[in-house]
Amino acid sequence: MNSKYIYLHTIGCQMNVYDSEQIAMRLATLGYEQASSMAQADVIIVNTCTVRAKAEQKAFSLLGRLAKMKRNKKRLIIGVGGCVAQQEGEKILDRMPAVDLVFGTQAIDRLPRLIQQIETRRCRIVDVDMDAAPEIPESLVESRNESQVSKFVTIMRGCDNHCTYCVVPFVRGRETSRKPESIMREIHSLVKTGVREITLLGQNVNSYGKNQNLCTFPELLCMINEVEGLLRIRFTTSHPKDLGSDLIPAFRDLDKLCPHIHLPVQSGSNRVLKRMNRQYTREQYLDKVMKLRDTCPQIAITSDIIVGFPGESKADFEQTLELVKTVEFDGLFAFQYSDRPQAPSVKLPDKLSEPIIRKRLQILLELQEKFTRRKNVALVGSTQLVLMDGLSKKQVSDAPAEIGPDLQWTGRTSTNKIVNFHMDESAADCENLIGKLVGVRIDKGFSHSLFGRAINVEPSAGGLKGVENYAA
Ligand code: 5AD
Ligand code: SF4
Repeated sequence: MNSKYIYLHTIGCQMNVYDSEQIAMRLATLGYEQASSMAQADVIIVNTCTVRAKAEQKAFSLLGRLAKMKRNKKRLIIGVGGCVAQQEGEKILDRMPAVDLVFGTQAIDRLPRLIQQIETRRCRIVDVDMDAAPEIPESLVESRNESQVSKFVTIMRGCDNHCTYCVVPFVRGRETSRKPESIMREIHSLVKTGVREITLLGQNVNSYGKNQNLCTFPELLCMINEVEGLLRIRFTTSHPKDLGSDLIPAFRDLDKLCPHIHLPVQSGSNRVLKRMNRQYTREQYLDKVMKLRDTCPQIAITSDIIVGFPGESKADFEQTLELVKTVEFDGLFAFQYSDRPQAPSVKLPDKLSEPIIRKRLQILLELQEKFTRRKNVALVGSTQLVLMDGLSKKQVSDAPAEIGPDLQWTGRTSTNKIVNFHMDESAADCENLIGKLVGVRIDKGFSHSLFGRAINVEPSAGGLKGVENYAA
């Protein structure tokens, strides 16, 4: 039988990255192998995001290019999945005649059947059915043959919060937690294939298990902390209103839980937070930051901020800048407010003009850059434990790599900072260190990464948090 190939193009968040892997594994059951380029593919799936208008435009412009490609390759199957598919449904078939399949965020486990129908009948299908209480399907992890150091594991889907700017509750549905047994099965299988770090994914992990009588999120973390062979646990995203006194001590008590939290604040103004329906005040946010730092002094805190929410005054924006100065985040993702058709904020008055929003974004990013760089420079001279991931991106793109001490390797600190580094060992010895914790002396700090040289390739088993020493 001739091989069949699938090409997956993923736009958007980590949840989509995880879903794309699940799609690939499900289509592998039909004999589809992953194509190395779009030209080689028999099926191309675009996994889409609709959180901001730009991401949605990206999906449609790619679909336009694929339509042209299909003119010379009539049997090419084009599928659209993810959040745009869920939001637009049928309309995509009207707008994009080359598209064969539109499948929503809860249709991934039905995909093999849908693709088979298209293969045999050359029909066009839309499946955007949403269940009020969907089961998160079992992962197909066992069939994976490639090994990676770090993987995402979805622990919940959907969101019940209804922040006024956000489409997630509409395109991902009600909040549903995956059963702990299913999560633990996936993590054990991943560790068997060589995975050493997992990032637990959910829109609001703090409310894991609530309403479903499952264990709590901190209890889940305790179970995962016991998994032998696993070195690091991360999670994202936490909602500040739900970050409680039960979770904060986990950063101190669980040796595998990395000292990093992504805690999106969205705005520093109480007036804007109210209009966003975030259900906390700036004072409550700052109090949680203080508690996190009191409990785990080395914790890195990153955040998301939306600039130019409808009605955001100059004074509101200044409150955001003040908050950023007070917290000194380790990193910040800042976004221009984007009107989304299904989100309630679309109806709010006092929309800001694009140039004002752009200017504010620039001011915010420049301010944050100073803090990020300062924090990274402060690490120069310290030794950081880095989970070695492989060759650095720069090295891979500059291939063929020279074997020798000038090879550049990459990994992350427990606080999630990227470290590129050299090693004195031979390339083969270095390769054996992929997936292991390596002590790296930091020589330089930039705005987005650190640079250094490995000095201790066999770190003591003294726990993950205690070994790192920080420069003053
Ligand atoms: N406009 C701009 N940014 C948005 N985000 C979510 N919805 C919007 C929107 N309509 C941002 C939030 C969220 C991140 C994932 O995307 O900051 O935390
Ligand atoms: Fe969207 Fe708010 Fe839910 Fe995050 S918590 S997914 S921003 S509704």
